[in-house]
Amino acid sequence: MLRLEGVSAGYGAVTVLRGLSFAAEAGEVTCIMGRNGVGKTTLMRAIMGQIAVSGSVRLGGEELAGLPAHEVPRRGIALVPQGRRLFGPLTVAENLEIGLMTRGKGAVTRDRVLDLFPRLRERLTQVSSTLSGGEQQMLAIARALCLEPKVLLLDEPTEGLQPSMIAAIRQVVLGLKTTGVAVVLVEQRVSAVLDMADRVAFMDHGTVAETVARADLAPGAAQFATWVGV
Ligand SMILES: Nc1ncnc2c1ncn2[C@@H]1O[C@H](COP(=O)(O)OP(=O)(O)O)[C@@H](O)[C@H]1O
Ligand SMILES: [Mg+2]
Repeated sequence: MLRLEGVSAGYGAVTVLRGLSFAAEAGEVTCIMGRNGVGKTTLMRAIMGQIAVSGSVRLGGEELAGLPAHEVPRRGIALVPQGRRLFGPLTVAENLEIGLMTRGKGAVTRDRVLDLFPRLRERLTQVSSTLSGGEQQMLAIARALCLEPKVLLLDEPTEGLQPSMIAAIRQVVLGLKTTGVAVVLVEQRVSAVLDMADRVAFMDHGTVAETVARADLAPGAAQFATWVGV
Protein backbone atom coordinates (compact mmCIF):
# COMPACT_ATOMS: atom_id res chain seq x y z
CA MET A 1 0.00 0.00 0.00
CA LEU A 2 2.51 2.62 1.23
CA ARG A 3 6.13 2.08 0.33
CA LEU A 4 9.12 4.33 1.07
CA GLU A 5 12.56 3.66 -0.38
CA GLY A 6 15.77 5.55 0.23
CA VAL A 7 14.00 8.53 1.77
CA SER A 8 16.18 11.35 3.05
CA ALA A 9 14.79 14.58 4.47
CA GLY A 10 15.44 17.19 7.11
CA TYR A 11 15.22 20.83 8.03
CA GLY A 12 17.50 23.21 6.17
CA ALA A 13 21.05 21.98 6.54
CA VAL A 14 20.05 19.38 9.16
CA THR A 15 19.47 15.88 7.77
CA VAL A 16 17.09 13.80 9.89
CA LEU A 17 15.93 10.90 7.69
CA ARG A 18 18.85 9.05 6.12
CA GLY A 19 17.95 6.71 3.30
CA LEU A 20 14.97 5.30 5.16
CA SER A 21 12.86 2.42 3.83
CA PHE A 22 9.45 1.54 5.23
CA ALA A 23 6.24 -0.18 4.17
CA ALA A 24 2.68 -0.34 5.49
CA GLU A 25 0.08 -2.80 4.19
CA ALA A 26 -3.70 -2.57 3.90
CA GLY A 27 -5.59 -4.09 6.82
CA GLU A 28 -2.54 -4.00 9.07
CA VAL A 29 -1.36 -1.84 11.95
CA THR A 30 2.30 -0.97 11.55
CA CYS A 31 3.75 0.55 14.70
CA ILE A 32 6.78 2.81 14.69
CA MET A 33 8.89 2.89 17.82
CA GLY A 34 12.12 4.66 18.67
CA ARG A 35 13.71 7.08 21.10
CA ASN A 36 12.89 10.76 21.19
CA GLY A 37 14.47 12.64 18.32
CA VAL A 38 15.14 9.66 16.00
CA GLY A 39 12.83 11.16 13.37
CA LYS A 40 9.40 9.58 13.83
CA THR A 41 7.48 12.83 13.46
CA THR A 42 9.78 13.90 10.64
CA LEU A 43 8.89 10.65 8.85
CA MET A 44 5.18 11.52 9.16
CA ARG A 45 5.85 14.97 7.69
CA ALA A 46 7.90 13.49 4.86
CA ILE A 47 5.08 11.11 3.92
CA MET A 48 2.61 14.02 3.96
CA GLY A 49 4.80 16.12 1.66
CA GLN A 50 5.18 18.76 4.34
CA ILE A 51 8.96 18.72 4.00
CA ALA A 52 11.05 18.11 0.89
CA VAL A 53 12.27 14.54 0.42
CA SER A 54 14.69 12.75 -1.84
CA GLY A 55 13.91 9.11 -2.57
CA SER A 56 10.58 7.44 -3.24
CA VAL A 57 7.23 7.60 -1.41
CA ARG A 58 4.69 5.45 -3.26
CA LEU A 59 1.03 4.85 -2.54
CA GLY A 60 -0.31 1.83 -4.40
CA GLY A 61 2.34 2.35 -7.07
CA GLU A 62 1.85 6.09 -7.49
CA GLU A 63 4.86 8.28 -6.71
CA LEU A 64 3.97 10.99 -4.18
CA ALA A 65 7.42 12.47 -3.51
CA GLY A 66 7.48 16.00 -4.87
CA LEU A 67 3.71 16.54 -4.80
CA PRO A 68 2.55 19.74 -3.07
CA ALA A 69 1.47 19.04 0.52
CA HIS A 70 -2.24 19.66 -0.14
CA GLU A 71 -2.29 16.90 -2.78
CA VAL A 72 -1.21 14.12 -0.43
CA PRO A 73 -4.42 13.97 1.68
CA ARG A 74 -6.40 14.02 -1.57
CA ARG A 75 -4.61 10.84 -2.64
CA GLY A 76 -5.85 9.15 0.54
CA ILE A 77 -3.26 9.63 3.28
CA ALA A 78 -4.46 11.30 6.48
CA LEU A 79 -2.30 12.39 9.41
CA VAL A 80 -3.30 12.90 13.01
CA PRO A 81 -0.31 15.02 14.03
CA GLN A 82 1.50 14.74 17.34
CA GLY A 83 0.12 17.12 19.95
CA ARG A 84 -3.22 17.79 18.15
CA ARG A 85 -3.50 20.72 15.80
CA LEU A 86 -7.12 21.68 15.41
CA PHE A 87 -8.87 24.65 13.95
CA GLY A 88 -9.53 26.15 17.40
CA PRO A 89 -12.27 28.73 16.72
CA LEU A 90 -14.25 26.28 14.56
CA THR A 91 -16.99 24.00 15.84
CA VAL A 92 -16.79 20.23 15.86
CA ALA A 93 -19.08 20.10 12.81
CA GLU A 94 -16.93 22.61 10.89
CA ASN A 95 -13.78 20.62 11.64
CA LEU A 96 -15.40 17.49 10.28
CA GLU A 97 -16.54 19.41 7.20
CA ILE A 98 -12.93 20.30 6.42
CA GLY A 99 -12.06 16.62 6.44
CA LEU A 100 -15.03 15.72 4.27
CA MET A 101 -14.27 18.43 1.71
CA THR A 102 -10.69 17.28 1.26
CA ARG A 103 -11.78 14.19 -0.67
CA GLY A 104 -15.33 15.15 -1.59
CA LYS A 105 -17.05 12.93 0.98
CA GLY A 106 -20.54 13.60 2.32
CA ALA A 107 -23.25 12.70 4.81
CA VAL A 108 -22.74 8.93 4.62
CA THR A 109 -19.10 9.25 5.62
CA ARG A 110 -19.95 11.80 8.30
CA ASP A 111 -22.52 9.50 9.86
CA ARG A 112 -20.20 6.52 9.80
CA VAL A 113 -17.47 8.54 11.53
CA LEU A 114 -19.84 9.96 14.14
CA ASP A 115 -21.05 6.43 14.91
CA LEU A 116 -17.48 5.73 16.03
CA PHE A 117 -17.41 8.84 18.22
CA PRO A 118 -20.81 9.32 19.91
CA ARG A 119 -19.34 11.99 22.20
CA LEU A 120 -18.64 14.16 19.17
CA ARG A 121 -22.16 13.75 17.85
CA GLU A 122 -23.42 15.26 21.13
CA ARG A 123 -21.06 18.22 20.69
CA LEU A 124 -21.37 19.15 17.01
CA THR A 125 -22.00 22.84 17.67
CA GLN A 126 -19.33 23.17 20.36
CA VAL A 127 -16.22 25.23 19.59
CA SER A 128 -13.41 22.69 19.35
CA SER A 129 -10.97 24.60 21.59
CA THR A 130 -13.42 24.12 24.50
CA LEU A 131 -13.33 20.31 24.19
CA SER A 132 -11.30 18.29 26.69
CA GLY A 133 -7.89 17.06 25.55
CA GLY A 134 -9.26 13.58 24.92
CA GLU A 135 -12.23 14.90 22.97
CA GLN A 136 -9.91 17.05 20.86
CA GLN A 137 -7.88 13.98 20.00
CA MET A 138 -11.11 12.16 19.09
CA LEU A 139 -11.98 15.06 16.83
CA ALA A 140 -8.54 15.03 15.21
CA ILE A 141 -8.98 11.32 14.46
CA ALA A 142 -12.58 11.80 13.32
CA ARG A 143 -11.55 14.58 10.96
CA ALA A 144 -8.86 12.33 9.49
CA LEU A 145 -11.39 9.53 9.01
CA CYS A 146 -13.69 11.92 7.15
CA LEU A 147 -11.20 11.59 4.27
CA GLU A 148 -11.93 7.84 4.13
CA PRO A 149 -8.16 7.42 3.99
CA LYS A 150 -6.36 4.42 2.53
CA VAL A 151 -3.51 5.14 4.94
CA LEU A 152 -4.01 6.67 8.39
CA LEU A 153 -0.94 8.03 10.18
CA LEU A 154 -1.29 8.50 13.95
CA ASP A 155 1.62 10.24 15.69
CA GLU A 156 1.53 9.31 19.40
CA PRO A 157 -2.26 9.72 19.60
CA THR A 158 -2.66 8.57 23.20
CA GLU A 159 0.04 10.81 24.72
CA GLY A 160 -1.34 12.32 27.93
CA LEU A 161 -4.85 10.87 27.62
CA GLN A 162 -7.02 9.15 30.21
CA PRO A 163 -7.42 5.36 30.09
CA SER A 164 -11.02 5.60 28.82
CA MET A 165 -9.92 7.72 25.85
CA ILE A 166 -6.98 5.42 25.16
CA ALA A 167 -9.38 2.48 25.12
CA ALA A 168 -11.67 4.28 22.68
CA ILE A 169 -8.79 5.03 20.32
CA ARG A 170 -7.69 1.40 20.50
CA GLN A 171 -11.17 0.28 19.44
CA VAL A 172 -11.12 2.63 16.47
CA VAL A 173 -7.66 1.47 15.36
CA LEU A 174 -8.61 -2.19 15.55
CA GLY A 175 -11.88 -1.48 13.73
CA LEU A 176 -10.02 0.22 10.87
CA LYS A 177 -7.98 -2.92 10.24
CA THR A 178 -11.13 -4.79 9.25
CA THR A 179 -12.00 -2.09 6.71
CA GLY A 180 -8.66 -2.48 4.93
CA VAL A 181 -7.05 0.78 6.01
CA ALA A 182 -3.27 0.72 6.42
CA VAL A 183 -2.71 2.17 9.90
CA VAL A 184 0.70 3.58 10.83
CA LEU A 185 0.87 4.18 14.57
CA VAL A 186 3.74 5.96 16.31
CA GLU A 187 3.48 4.61 19.85
CA GLN A 188 5.88 4.42 22.77
CA ARG A 189 4.00 2.10 25.12
CA VAL A 190 5.16 -1.50 24.69
CA SER A 191 1.88 -2.95 25.97
CA ALA A 192 -0.15 -0.94 23.44
CA VAL A 193 2.16 -1.94 20.61
CA LEU A 194 1.95 -5.63 21.51
CA ASP A 195 -1.82 -5.30 21.72
CA MET A 196 -2.41 -3.59 18.36
CA ALA A 197 0.54 -4.06 16.01
CA ASP A 198 0.87 -6.51 13.16
CA ARG A 199 4.42 -5.35 12.56
CA VAL A 200 6.78 -3.03 14.39
CA ALA A 201 9.35 -0.80 12.69
CA PHE A 202 12.09 0.29 15.09
CA MET A 203 13.68 3.60 14.12
CA ASP A 204 17.13 4.81 15.02
CA HIS A 205 19.10 7.78 13.68
CA GLY A 206 16.72 8.54 10.86
CA THR A 207 16.41 5.02 9.47
CA VAL A 208 14.33 1.94 10.16
CA ALA A 209 16.84 -0.22 12.00
CA GLU A 210 14.72 -3.34 12.19
CA THR A 211 11.18 -4.45 11.29
CA VAL A 212 9.69 -7.33 13.26
CA ALA A 213 6.38 -9.18 12.99
CA ARG A 214 4.24 -8.99 16.13
CA ALA A 215 4.31 -12.78 16.36
CA ASP A 216 8.08 -12.62 16.79
CA LEU A 217 7.97 -10.08 19.64
CA ALA A 218 7.56 -11.10 23.28
CA PRO A 219 6.91 -8.50 26.01
CA GLY A 220 10.56 -8.60 27.07
CA ALA A 221 12.02 -8.72 23.55
CA ALA A 222 15.54 -7.34 23.20
CA GLN A 223 14.39 -4.88 20.52
CA PHE A 224 12.49 -2.81 23.07
CA ALA A 225 15.60 -2.35 25.18
CA THR A 226 17.85 -1.76 22.18
CA TRP A 227 15.74 0.69 20.19
CA VAL A 228 13.37 2.23 22.75
CA GLY A 229 15.34 1.91 25.98
CA VAL A 230 12.61 0.30 28.06
N1 LIG B 1 11.11 22.19 12.58
C1 LIG B 1 12.31 21.69 12.87
N2 LIG B 1 13.43 22.37 12.56
C2 LIG B 1 14.67 21.86 12.83
N3 LIG B 1 14.88 20.66 13.42
C3 LIG B 1 13.80 19.95 13.74
C4 LIG B 1 12.47 20.40 13.50
N4 LIG B 1 11.61 19.46 13.93
C5 LIG B 1 12.37 18.47 14.43
N5 LIG B 1 13.69 18.74 14.32
C6 LIG B 1 14.81 17.88 14.73
O1 LIG B 1 14.72 16.68 14.00
C7 LIG B 1 15.09 15.57 14.79
C8 LIG B 1 13.96 14.54 14.76
O2 LIG B 1 12.81 15.08 15.39
P1 LIG B 1 11.42 14.34 15.38
O3 LIG B 1 11.15 13.85 14.01
O4 LIG B 1 10.42 15.24 16.00
O5 LIG B 1 11.72 13.08 16.32
P2 LIG B 1 10.74 12.10 17.10
O6 LIG B 1 9.35 12.33 16.61
O7 LIG B 1 11.25 10.73 16.79
O8 LIG B 1 10.89 12.41 18.57
C9 LIG B 1 15.39 16.10 16.18
O9 LIG B 1 16.79 16.27 16.29
C10 LIG B 1 14.70 17.45 16.18
O10 LIG B 1 15.35 18.35 17.03
MG1 LIG C 1 7.57 12.87 17.53
